[in-house]
Amino acid sequence: MKRAKLGLIGCGGIARHSHLPTIGELTRKGALDFVAVCDIDENRAKEVASQYDVPYYTDVEEMMERHKNMDVVDICTGDYTHHLLAKMAAEHKIHPIVEKPMSITLPCCDVMIEACKRNGVYFEVAENYFRMPADRVIVKLIKEGVIGEVMRVYYVDPIDRRPLWKMGSHSGVCLDMGVHRMSQIRLYAGSNPKRIVGVTKQFMPVEGKVFEDWGHAIIDFESGAVGIFECSAVGEKMVSYRQIIGTRGTIRDFSLRAVVKGKMQDIPIERKTHKVDGKEVLTKIIVHTEPQITYENPFKEFALDDWQIGIAEEIMSIADAALQDREPEYGMEGRKDVEMCIALYESSLKGMKPIDLPITEMTTYEKMVHEDFKEVFGYYPTEV
Ligand SMILES: NC(=O)c1ccc[n+]([C@@H]2O[C@H](COP(=O)([O-])OP(=O)(O)OC[C@H]3O[C@@H](n4cnc5c(N)ncnc54)[C@H](O)[C@@H]3O)[C@@H](O)[C@H]2O)c1
Repeated sequence: MKRAKLGLIGCGGIARHSHLPTIGELTRKGALDFVAVCDIDENRAKEVASQYDVPYYTDVEEMMERHKNMDVVDICTGDYTHHLLAKMAAEHKIHPIVEKPMSITLPCCDVMIEACKRNGVYFEVAENYFRMPADRVIVKLIKEGVIGEVMRVYYVDPIDRRPLWKMGSHSGVCLDMGVHRMSQIRLYAGSNPKRIVGVTKQFMPVEGKVFEDWGHAIIDFESGAVGIFECSAVGEKMVSYRQIIGTRGTIRDFSLRAVVKGKMQDIPIERKTHKVDGKEVLTKIIVHTEPQITYENPFKEFALDDWQIGIAEEIMSIADAALQDREPEYGMEGRKDVEMCIALYESSLKGMKPIDLPITEMTTYEKMVHEDFKEVFGYYPTEV
């Protein structure tokens, strides 16, 4: 069986914690072919290269030139670089997968989309939460109608700042964690958002920083469902909770109460595991509704935990797209998550004005981000 040849860019936290161990296991078991690694920090690149026995580079262009038969590149660098590196990959006819958020603004997402289209390659966004077993089960339960029509989705999670606020690589929580939560709220609602109203605040000002430390949004979906989103990084450690309330039941985190035989009751959720190379691995999750709902781990022969199953799914999504010439699972959905976050920022900037989706013109918030980018790099992020 042909295996996709994969290179990785950016050997920081998420790569070392999540992507590399997963890619290593997929390669060991013959599902993938890890061929090269790159980081501008030579020590980091060297260390990863020796651990995974692949050549290393400190220049992305050089890696792509030397590995012309590379199918996929896994981009694990900071947010503001995603669209630039993905465009470079597309121009080398390599299919990119970028870590989330897809990019820092919608025009930057569009740079990536347009470059991939023009060069005949697919792209994927490494949104991992919905691919993890528990979330797959939740979405399956909702689709099977176990909780009836979804009315309200709450996701309250402990931040925010604008990308590039101190030339750091990442965004604040309303975009950083925000894209994850917007993705989940949207998938649980099973509908597209039509309007968002939101507010972000900086409760504890930090000199010279433009970021807010809290954000809240109300999302009105086409289906009639309402989403309630909150991200915070201020005050006491917040209670994080998610709750999906339907006409016939409720999912709270990973427990389920639903109407069975006319009565609201707790539904048992069973988790079966087995050992792979000494590691406890998920076999399946069974939800004891009538009929039963089962989730089978698609990577049960691999020594991967539940978090890594989400990472394996996103990487194999772009690997399969590249080899089998088919759309990856998420792709454009990653843009929708960014769009929901931009709507929140824009609403806040405009005094909690409701923002209609889709966004059709560059927002004031995005113009500010592009100006920040120009101040740091000397050019606008779309001038690439
Ligand atoms: N999916 C998740 O749950 C999750 C979790 C954490 C981070 N992330 C995302 O992953 C990305 C990386 O986050 P991180 O915390 O690992 O960052 P990090 O700062 O720890 O690592 C980034 C690495 O990229 C390298 N790099 C930067 N520009 C480069 C370039 N042009 N060429 C080669 N290497 C370059 C840096 O030297 C660094 O080693 C961010 O977009 C972040 O939002 C996702």
